[in-house]
Amino acid sequence: MNDALRHTLQQMPKAELHIHIEGSLEPELIFALARRNNVALAFESVDALRAAYAFTDLQSFLDIYYAGASVLLTEQDFYDMTRAYLLRAQQDQVRHTELFFDPQTHTARGVPMEFVINGIWRALQDAQQEWGMTGALILCFLRHLSEDDAFDTLELALPLRDKFIGVGLDSSELGHPPEKFARVFAKCRQLGLHLVAHAGEEGPPAYITSALDVLKVERIDHGVRCLEDAALTARLAHERIPLTVCPLSNLKLRVVDQLANHNLLQLLDAGLVVTVNSDDPAYFGGYMNDNFIATFEALPLTREHARVLARNSFDAAFLDGATRHKYLAEVDTFFDGQPA
Ligand code: ADE
Ligand code: ZN
Repeated sequence: MNDALRHTLQQMPKAELHIHIEGSLEPELIFALARRNNVALAFESVDALRAAYAFTDLQSFLDIYYAGASVLLTEQDFYDMTRAYLLRAQQDQVRHTELFFDPQTHTARGVPMEFVINGIWRALQDAQQEWGMTGALILCFLRHLSEDDAFDTLELALPLRDKFIGVGLDSSELGHPPEKFARVFAKCRQLGLHLVAHAGEEGPPAYITSALDVLKVERIDHGVRCLEDAALTARLAHERIPLTVCPLSNLKLRVVDQLANHNLLQLLDAGLVVTVNSDDPAYFGGYMNDNFIATFEALPLTREHARVLARNSFDAAFLDGATRHKYLAEVDTFFDGQPA
């Protein structure tokens, strides 16, 4: 890729809409928090932990990801984790970020819900005050657990309702279709929460359809398998349902065998509102700009695609009209003011 395109990808304003905040925990911070909190880890060293990041599928990653999250105990831990991510995102010219968090991973270990939400929230507030970065929280239900557990989690979180804007669905996809969470998503919809779900990462296109029809989600996280169903692809384009695509994640979890075979360009050509995101950057070898650069190096993507992806990230975000307009204008000024 030429230097001008690399510079464009690095410097263009962007939003990140698919980042699990626990997936931003770098091995060094995992060890520092383990020491601070006297938590025993199954790994001897930072290097030994990093060496275990050789995933064969989603589950092999999730096992290590949940082990890593076990060092988080205090509100300050959640603050420090989020602060580290936001600092890194700011370097990548991320202007707005919607953070997924997995409360059940923490409440199951006896960590109070308020520590989780308040720690992440406080870091977002500081980033807004210091840098003008905007952000919001999306509470994810773990789909390998029961719907009753999701209901209990929602109840624990409702006293902090003003600190999260929506709910999502993540963890082991295969065997845990969206239908399993129909009632709890209906309840969240009544509460006026935004709705998203992981679907079509490892699971079949039918999971994308049921996320739309049964859960009534507004965005699909991943969704890359939609192209196996032409009618579904046409529907996603027609209804302008955004897909939050995570290229390096798809590579590391072997959803694709190499980035050159990633279908991101086909998704764009099909008229879908595609966005690029990092998913779990500490585990998958890269933050936002690493994802953009690796994908543009592997596929015949152009500066005009970069502009579309930057615009899509703000179009797909849960922003009020004025803020969205401000960010889209910033993207246009950036691209119009730069030599092609
Ligand atoms: N939790 C964290 N990352 C995830 C992913 N890529 N898919 C499902 N659940 C996750
Ligand atoms: Zn994800």
